Amino acid sequence: MRAIDIIEKKRDGKALEASEIEFLLKEYLHQNVPDYQMSAFLMAVYFNGMNSEELQEFTRQMIHSGEMITFENPGGFLIDKHSTGGVGDKTTIALAPLLAAFGISTTKLTGKGLGHTGGTIDKFESIPGFHFPENKEQLQELLSQTGIGIMGYSDSILPLDKKLYALRDVTGTVASIPLIASSIMSKKLAIESQGIILDVKVGKGAFLKTLEQARTLAHTMLEIGQRFGRKMVIHLSNMEEPLGQAVGNSLEVIEAIETLKGKGPQCFRDLIAELAATALLMKGDVESIKEGKQKALEMLQTELPLQKLRQLIEACGGNAQVVDDYALLPLAKKTLEVKAQQSGWISAIDAQMIGKAAMLLGAGRATKEASIDHSVGVILEKKTGEFINAGDTLASLYYQNENELQASEKMIQQAYQFSDTQVIKPKIIVESVFENDELEITN
Ligand code: URA
Repeated sequence: MRAIDIIEKKRDGKALEASEIEFLLKEYLHQNVPDYQMSAFLMAVYFNGMNSEELQEFTRQMIHSGEMITFENPGGFLIDKHSTGGVGDKTTIALAPLLAAFGISTTKLTGKGLGHTGGTIDKFESIPGFHFPENKEQLQELLSQTGIGIMGYSDSILPLDKKLYALRDVTGTVASIPLIASSIMSKKLAIESQGIILDVKVGKGAFLKTLEQARTLAHTMLEIGQRFGRKMVIHLSNMEEPLGQAVGNSLEVIEAIETLKGKGPQCFRDLIAELAATALLMKGDVESIKEGKQKALEMLQTELPLQKLRQLIEACGGNAQVVDDYALLPLAKKTLEVKAQQSGWISAIDAQMIGKAAMLLGAGRATKEASIDHSVGVILEKKTGEFINAGDTLASLYYQNENELQASEKMIQQAYQFSDTQVIKPKIIVESVFENDELEITN
């Protein structure tokens, strides 16, 4: 077999045999196929796609390229909740303890933030002393202690996805539905779980800007999950504007804790409750999303989810007192209030621009190697659908130095749009895709 023949076959729009995909990917992993040939292949996939069988084999090769994670003693129903990434997405910080309070365990491989979107690891690591496990043994220990098993990607897990993603990044081949679907699903399938809940973000702050693209990705991922025998539910959620009010690492931790205290912004509470309800439904503890949501909201009124968060923080070496004393978190002392220049109903807040404004303050990374400042960020004092008078505060910027402050403030001003007529608050979950008819569609 030769790489060139496989590339030409895909270029000409023909379907590949499983053995051809296996050959190409294994040889690439072992550096016998060079980047320039793999780039040509990826571009051929970008234009010609992959059918279900090709996609299954492609994903299988990614999963088996490295170490897989299974648990000897998972101690309960295991859910892997994954979001495709957005601005202000602090979901895991609140959801994992909430699920733990119901006796549902969370497992997950997660990443650091890049560009305008933040990463779960960075957010948790704004808690002094907090570090996620660095290997499989530590992960298993954390899961059995707390019901929450989260770990960053390591070189030994999914090396093929890592290699391919880096190549896609510089060859214009990231935005291909089959390549995105297999990349995301390989990360879900390399770690044991009994149910996968995917939160596909759609809108200006997301990777996928249109509902059509998000639907296609959701169905493609669902099909991969089914072929590998995993139970899945996919929600498409709104990322036109940032999730909640806080964007920036410590600020997002505080918002997640507030939500676990039964407070926090309503859109975030709704999302958490809906995701928890989905997990309860998948486990078979409730008969409908409505019933599950009710239970989740009731649970948020108790101390238990907060206790679970404290346990997680302690088990990861962090200072759990942050839950009760936010002054223990790194938080910038200087703030700037960005004022509305006109009155009106807020009709849109460009999530990508807000993410970039926070990044300029130091909350995000422009390159993988860059360091971040956990203490800075943005609080959106007003969200879509609310009325504001000229001169009132739209957003507060938490900053350490003034280098990019003006540029950041300007971006915030540009991100907000206004209307003279009343605007309805957007729904947080736009659409849901369930794997079978037993499960109900909520919206
Ligand atoms: N997230 C991933 O993990 N992979 C992609 O290809 C795109 C987004």
